[in-house]
Amino acid sequence: MNLHLKGKKVFISGSTKGIGFETARLFLEEGATVIINGRTKKSVESALSSLNSDNVSGLVADFLKDSQVETLIDHIPNDIDILVNNVGIFRGKEFKDETIDDWNDHFKVNLMSGVQLSKHFLPEMIKRNWGRIIFISSECATLVPSDLLSYSVSKASINVFSSGLAKLTKGTNVTINTVIPGSTLSEGSVKFLEETAKRENKTVEEVEKNFFKDVRSSSLLGRFARVEEVASTIVYLCSTVASATNGASVRVDGGSMGSII
Ligand SMILES: NC(=O)c1ccc[n+]([C@@H]2O[C@H](COP(=O)([O-])OP(=O)(O)OC[C@H]3O[C@@H](n4cnc5c(N)ncnc54)[C@H](OP(=O)(O)O)[C@@H]3O)[C@@H](O)[C@H]2O)c1
Repeated sequence: MNLHLKGKKVFISGSTKGIGFETARLFLEEGATVIINGRTKKSVESALSSLNSDNVSGLVADFLKDSQVETLIDHIPNDIDILVNNVGIFRGKEFKDETIDDWNDHFKVNLMSGVQLSKHFLPEMIKRNWGRIIFISSECATLVPSDLLSYSVSKASINVFSSGLAKLTKGTNVTINTVIPGSTLSEGSVKFLEETAKRENKTVEEVEKNFFKDVRSSSLLGRFARVEEVASTIVYLCSTVASATNGASVRVDGGSMGSII
């Protein structure tokens, strides 16, 4: 299948690692030009060197810092074709331990990053009558684990925002969709598995098996998704081939959410 992504200009927030990094790699394979982003010069340079392509560049910006977000937006070319709002943070804490700062930070990084970038780049896409905006939500938006409340609420708000924003694309060739990953084997998940294995004197395989038995028992996949399984869905939705999918939430949750749509 030709995805017709050659020459498309892509910006991916939070893309030095994990799903964002893999998405950048797949876009580059398809011939797109990609701008990646992370919080430090070191992490951005390390990701650029791993991607090893003439078609990739990087911008350092922390979405918790307003002035850095403003500078970032100034440095992204106005005519990007594809915006992937991937950046996301989570702090697993019981509600009683979550501070108001935790709530604000989750909303700032997980939701407001996409609001700010979309506010800037959607009008340009509409003017040029082509564009793709992708938001990355989470299975937690509907599973709502009690130790991930602020994260889950921020992720649910992404689905709502993305769905409403898509209505502004009516009659154009711009689409806006949300991808909903389930538990995915990014660096953060690997660290969680390794630390738990060490703490409980178990193997990583045992910890993963127990996680899907005890915590994510609704998963049909029964294992963490690989980052490429999520990234390939993102890249497909950004292609011209996916032109009839708009305002959708597409699950890559291994069946954990259990809903019929
Ligand atoms: N992994 C999962 O199980 C899972 C499940 C459902 C949904 N998701 C969602 O998928 C998205 C990607 O998750 P992931 O697990 O692949 O992430 P990850 O491996 O933890 O990577 C996070 C990326 O975001 C960057 N980042 C973090 N905070 C940032 C900030 N304040 N400003 C700018 N960049 C920042 C990091 O860059 P630096 O370190 O270089 O700053 C890194 O490139 C997130 O929205 C997440 O909520 C993940």
